[in-house]
Amino acid sequence: MTDQSQDTAKLSIRGEDYEFPIYSGTIGPDVVDIGKLYGKTGLFTYDPGYTSTGSCESSITYIDGEKGELLYRGFPIDQLASKSHFLEVAYLLLYGELPTAEQLDDFEARVTNHTMLHDQMSYFFRGFRRDAHPMAIVCGAMGAMSAFYHDSTDISDAWQREVATIRMIAKMPTIVAWAYKYSIGQPFVYPNNSLDYASNFLNMCFSVPTTDYPIDPILSRAMDRIFTLHADHEQNASTSTVRLASSSGANPFACIAAGVACLWGPAHGGANEACLSMLRQIGTADRIPEFIARAKDKDDPFRLMGFGHRVYKNFDPRAKVMKESADEVLGLLGIENNPTLQVAKELEKIALEDEYFVEKKLYPNVDFYSGIILDAMGFPTSMFTPIFALARTVGWISQWKEMLEDPKARIGRPRQLYTGATHRDYVEVENR
Ligand code: CMC
Repeated sequence: MTDQSQDTAKLSIRGEDYEFPIYSGTIGPDVVDIGKLYGKTGLFTYDPGYTSTGSCESSITYIDGEKGELLYRGFPIDQLASKSHFLEVAYLLLYGELPTAEQLDDFEARVTNHTMLHDQMSYFFRGFRRDAHPMAIVCGAMGAMSAFYHDSTDISDAWQREVATIRMIAKMPTIVAWAYKYSIGQPFVYPNNSLDYASNFLNMCFSVPTTDYPIDPILSRAMDRIFTLHADHEQNASTSTVRLASSSGANPFACIAAGVACLWGPAHGGANEACLSMLRQIGTADRIPEFIARAKDKDDPFRLMGFGHRVYKNFDPRAKVMKESADEVLGLLGIENNPTLQVAKELEKIALEDEYFVEKKLYPNVDFYSGIILDAMGFPTSMFTPIFALARTVGWISQWKEMLEDPKARIGRPRQLYTGATHRDYVEVENR
């Protein structure tokens, strides 16, 4: 961050002038530092939804919403999705640079060695109702890790932070797969450390003790790509939740569990599940105009799920890659004529030409195609958001780590515009 001390923002309030420094990052809009605003003027800023607020300094992920560009540590997402793989991307997000071959081997070995859950945790899973949403189980299991791994909860110890990092990345696929197995009444499948990260996850989800489960490399590659595309996304709602939880000094497992909880909502990670349900509800292309009309109707709360984004005002770059993967996976499985995919393609075409969507810059986002791929792979819709959480764990941890290493980080404590009752005296119940 450069302090352009020559360059200041002048604010005039009720006849008084105040100056605030402007800082520049490496790319993206400059920021006005209003940290001293209250001290100097007695005023707070007001920005519900934080649409104009930078909450931290970060060097992990950059999004140019107008261009539709997403960079992890400077590398474009499409290059990483086609040339790299999830654990290499995880290393990049966590440590800032692409690993050498030796560093990658070491990192992969460390993650692989931590895939198993403490055996007592299997009883914890069994305590849930069978019909529990897997996100409820994932959130609970992640939070519960702080009760199982006491030797990696001290955030002031860099070694413990590193152990917690590896544990969460390694165990999250096991947690998500076990949440699924539990919900369908099948035995838990233990991790197989001879498999790569994505194949191991598919194996834990779909193999059963009685039959071999051959893992198709195309499906495994598509799974890995889904993980890569969801790995981080700057200061979104769940990442900001992780940072806020962490700002109080909470342990790493509790902070990531907070991120899982936030991701669950349909405006965030829950949109992939909602999107596939919507495509199925539409059913056939001839019903698309009816749903487009509903999405435009101000009196109807319905929204086209998988469309629109707070930051992207152009095609979500992740959606482009996801669309290619959808074609590949459905082609492999011989279901290119899947009616849901046909509805999706037609809906995309119509919405991209519709004046309402064009004017509001509402483009398909990552969730528009991810659900179709996951569905084709055999996952029920309830598993879509847990899979997103699995992938985003890497981003949450990278941001959590960055925050703990930032000497400027303080407890997050927003203020408010109070509009409630002013001071009044208590009235005894018999006198009300
Ligand atoms: N369908 C119809 N209209 C929409 C949609 C949509 N999907 N999204 C936004 N709009 C309209 C909205 O009604 C508003 O209109 P007006 O200005 O006339 O009031 C305008 O576009 C701006 O919308 P907003 O709600 O102020 O925008 P936001 O930045 O607060 O919301 C969003 C972003 C993603 C929550 C929203 O676009 C949405 O609800 N999309 C559907 C859910 C979805 O697909 N979410 C996944 C996001 S990508 C995955 C992730 O990163 O979590």
